[in-house]
Parts: sequence; C-alpha cells; structure tokens
Amino acid sequence: MTLREIQTFGILGAGTLGWKIGLQAAISGFEVLMFDISNEQLERSTNFQAQLCKRLVRTGILSEDDSAEALERISITTDQSAFASKVDFVSESVTEELELKRKVWESFSGKWKEHVVLTTNTSYLLPSQMVDVVGDPERFCAFHFHDVFDARVVDVMGHPNTSEKVIAFLIDLGRKLNQIPVHVEHETSGYLFNAMLMAYLGAAGNLLARGKATVEAIDRSWMGNMSTAIGPFGMMDVVGLDTVDHILRVRTDRQSIAFREVITPYVSKGKLGVKSGEGFYSYPKPSYANPEFLL
Ligand SMILES: NC(=O)c1ccc[n+]([C@@H]2O[C@H](COP(=O)([O-])OP(=O)(O)OC[C@H]3O[C@@H](n4cnc5c(N)ncnc54)[C@H](O)[C@@H]3O)[C@@H](O)[C@H]2O)c1
Repeated sequence: MTLREIQTFGILGAGTLGWKIGLQAAISGFEVLMFDISNEQLERSTNFQAQLCKRLVRTGILSEDDSAEALERISITTDQSAFASKVDFVSESVTEELELKRKVWESFSGKWKEHVVLTTNTSYLLPSQMVDVVGDPERFCAFHFHDVFDARVVDVMGHPNTSEKVIAFLIDLGRKLNQIPVHVEHETSGYLFNAMLMAYLGAAGNLLARGKATVEAIDRSWMGNMSTAIGPFGMMDVVGLDTVDHILRVRTDRQSIAFREVITPYVSKGKLGVKSGEGFYSYPKPSYANPEFLL
C-alpha cells in the first residue's frame, strides 16, 4: 500500500477523536467514509466538523474553499458491509474497552479489501491484545492521535508481527496528515506521552480524592506555574471522563483506584466533560478559560 493507493480513508467509530481524524484526512485530500453504530453520533460529528472548519477559516489556517471542499469529501454510514467494501485504510476509534474493540474487529475480519492497512487509535491498550481477532496481523498497527489539531503527535506502535513496511507507511501517512510521527519501537501501554500524562493526571486525581484542594485550585496551580491554558481537570474534560474511567478500570494500583472514585460519580450522572456539556467544568464557557481564573 502506498499513500496514493488510499482512495477512501475509513473512520471506524466517529466519536470525539474519530471525527477529528476524519476531518484532518479530508483536509489532507482523502475521500473519507465514517462508520459508527449510532446515526445520531454521525450527524453530531458532521456538525462538529463544520464548526471546527469555521474556526480554522477564522484563524487563517484554512481557506473558505479548502474548508468547503474538505467537508464535501466526508461521507457517513451505519452500514458495516458498505464500509468494509469501500475503504482502503482504517483508523479505529471505538470506545476504549478491550472486549468491545475485539468484538468490533472480529465482526469485520475477512471483510476488508486486500492490502488495507488497519489501525487502532487506542490510548492505553496494546495492538497485541486485539491482533488475534483482526485477521491480518502484519497489516495491523496502533496509529494513535492526541488531538489532531491542537496537539499533533501521532504514535506509530506495532505489535511483534507488524510489518516494517506498514510502520514506514504510517510514518509517511502521519506526515501527510499534518502530524508529528513518533515511532514507539516496543509495545508499551500509553505510548510515550500518555504514559507521562497519566502519571500527571493521576497525581491531580489523587490530590482531589484525598481532599487536599478543589478542582479549581489544582488546575490553577498547574496553569499558573506552567503557563498553560488548561489544567489536569480541564484536560480530563476534553478527553472525556468516560474514556478516563475506562482507562482507570483496568488499573489496580492504589493511586488509580482512588482516582477512579473521583471520576465514576461524574460518569454515572452523564457528566462526561466537553462532549456532554458538563464535567468538572461547564461548557462551552468553562471558568478556567476566563482570564480572571488565575487572579
Ligand atoms: N478522547 C480523546 O482525547 C482520545 C485521544 C486519543 C485517543 N483516543 C482513543 O480513541 C478511541 C475513541 O475514544 P473517543 O474519546 O473518541 O470515544 P467516544 O466515546 O467519544 O467515541 C466512541 C465512538 O465509538 C462508537 N462505537 C461504539 N461501539 C461501536 C461499534 N460496535 N461499532 C462502531 N462504532 C462504535 C460510539 O458510538 C462512539 O461514537 C478510544 O480508544 C480512545 O482511547 C481518545
């Protein structure tokens, strides 16, 4: 497979990250087909893509024409067979649950076109935990994005039987998608950045769980010292508290268990962060985005 052979770039799971990867692929010139089990989610994602395009035009990153052309290149479907028979490349961003991801990959096994490169955007799972159900081991690899637009690193991490050609292909594709490719040579949970990030978010969660300070004070402490526009709890809202909860569920260390006790009550009330309009903060205007937050 070469980059030129990708006619249709497939997004499998069009939630928080799926729609962003799809939009960037369309901006990079690929036809994009997004598949999800939820038609409502696909429609929501299409709206998010149009809104983000407006921001990119407003900030001078994209011209009006390029934005309109990119949006025209994106189609949606809930038809699994139509998706599998059309796409030449797959980026999977289904919910971060091992059993669900395994079920989804298995349901597609043997249905893809020949030579299609198959990738997972998992944040903390390993490709070797899914490869047995994917069906094409040498063509399967983790290709993990962070935010796509605001954070542009893409991790390329194979399992022991991923072909070297696929790794090289994904590094090229990462650059074509306006990302900074980082090759992780041996499988490790959380790649490089997420492994560091989890320690940082975990420390924040632990301070809150032990009642040492409020969400706002912990965020203010980080933002004020590091000159960042967002602190750990604001960042968790962006990631999605349900996704953070899924990640913590499989961890058994004391810090993760205490951290999860903080997150789970939010998730059970449907407070998932930016995507649901409320998490640690309320959206679209979270208090930490107000300049007075640091006063
Ligand atoms: N949120 C982030 O900041 C972030 C960053 C990098 C990577 N990721 C990874 O991306 C993946 C998705 O995370 P997200 O935050 O986009 O989650 P999300 O909950 O926003 O989206 C998941 C999507 O998967 C869909 N889905 C569920 N079951 C499906 C099925 N059987 N077939 C097709 N689609 C199905 C859901 O309808 C939903 O649209 C996870 O593996 C996560 O670790 C997330």
